[in-house]
Amino acid sequence: MGHPRINRVQSLHSCDSLASFYVTRLACVFTKSHRQTGGQPTKLQEIMRILFLNGPNLNLLGQREPEVYGHTTLAEIESKVRQHASSRQAEVEFRQTNSEGDLVGWIQEARGHFDVIVLNAAAYTHTSIALRDAIAAVGLPTIEVHLSNISAREDFRHRSLIAPVCRGQIAGFGTESYTLAVDAAISLK
Ligand code: DQA
Repeated sequence: MGHPRINRVQSLHSCDSLASFYVTRLACVFTKSHRQTGGQPTKLQEIMRILFLNGPNLNLLGQREPEVYGHTTLAEIESKVRQHASSRQAEVEFRQTNSEGDLVGWIQEARGHFDVIVLNAAAYTHTSIALRDAIAAVGLPTIEVHLSNISAREDFRHRSLIAPVCRGQIAGFGTESYTLAVDAAISLK
């Protein structure tokens, strides 16, 4: 039976252990900055680790109500986010699920592995006390993100149950909401 902390790291990062995860991450930053300074060792910089979580039906982006959500798929958003983040020395993990329980589990597991959570909880934004409680319990800075401007849509979308426990909300900029969220996450450093 493995140690539970180590098992969590393996499932998130497919590393051998918590120690190897951190050594790999620091070595990666060191190698990069070493190269950039022409071989002169520099102080190790901490990389910002951002966990992007996407809720129900966002796997259908690209075909789902394109007049509201546009034509870009979630995979394309992910690749845009990765590009944007890597140019800013940030590391990204990107996930989607249709299950509220998965989102709660991922938020709980994020502590110690990520610095900031960016959450598009989709419809659970408007219904989930469980998500709100998970964000409050874990205490990691969380940024709420939406493609559409939820305040300009149906009344039931005007209320976000997670907004009061998030650091801020970015909504209405389409796929740019996600890249703006990377910058917002970095600003919390
Ligand atoms: C959404 C807005 C939610 O109201 C809706 O349920 C979604 C997507 C957005 O990104 O605009 O599924 O979160």
